[in-house]
Amino acid sequence: MTSIRKLALTGHVTSSVGWLGAVATFLALAVAGLISKDVQRVRAAYLAMELITWFIIVPLCVASLLTGVVSSLVSTWGLFRHYWVLIKLLLTVFATILLVVHTKPIGYVASVVAKTTISSGDLRAVRIQIVADAGAALLVLVVNTTLAVYKPRGVTPFH
Ligand code: HEM
Repeated sequence: MTSIRKLALTGHVTSSVGWLGAVATFLALAVAGLISKDVQRVRAAYLAMELITWFIIVPLCVASLLTGVVSSLVSTWGLFRHYWVLIKLLLTVFATILLVVHTKPIGYVASVVAKTTISSGDLRAVRIQIVADAGAALLVLVVNTTLAVYKPRGVTPFH
């Protein structure tokens, strides 16, 4: 393995699996924020979720995508040659779009809890949506990790 490929792969595994861990943490906070009866805990959860989103999840997502593309191009895998790489690319782009779209509701709930105390019935739809999105993102990341390790055979017509 060339040293550039090793470097790219180290960055890729670190950022991708780190992203998965951060989303799992986010999901725990989203569930706590939805079901807890303790107003201080609810407030703390949404404020922490906003911080984790901007300072951990978004940078790791960008890093995973960039290092994934670099790893594909500097290795013999190629970006469009193997189905497992192409599917990972599409799933990661989908997860990135989901993330960008959902920074808005997260920011909204965080700004509300920063100013007022919310009860369990307030902003219910958006709080449920945040849990569902985090669950979907976690599933996509687990599928990507599985694809990365198993590397199922199959080449696309684009090789
Ligand atoms: C969240 C998304 C992702 C996760 C969790 C993930 C996870 C991983 C892991 C754990 C490996 C190491 C497997 C091994 O060396 O046996 C890997 C390798 C790889 N990933 Fe990803 N990945 C993600 C996104 C991407 C994207 C977007 C691409 C490309 C478009 C990509 C392309 C590759 C390639 C080509 C390798 C092999 C590199 C090499 O052998 O040098 N990955 N990925």
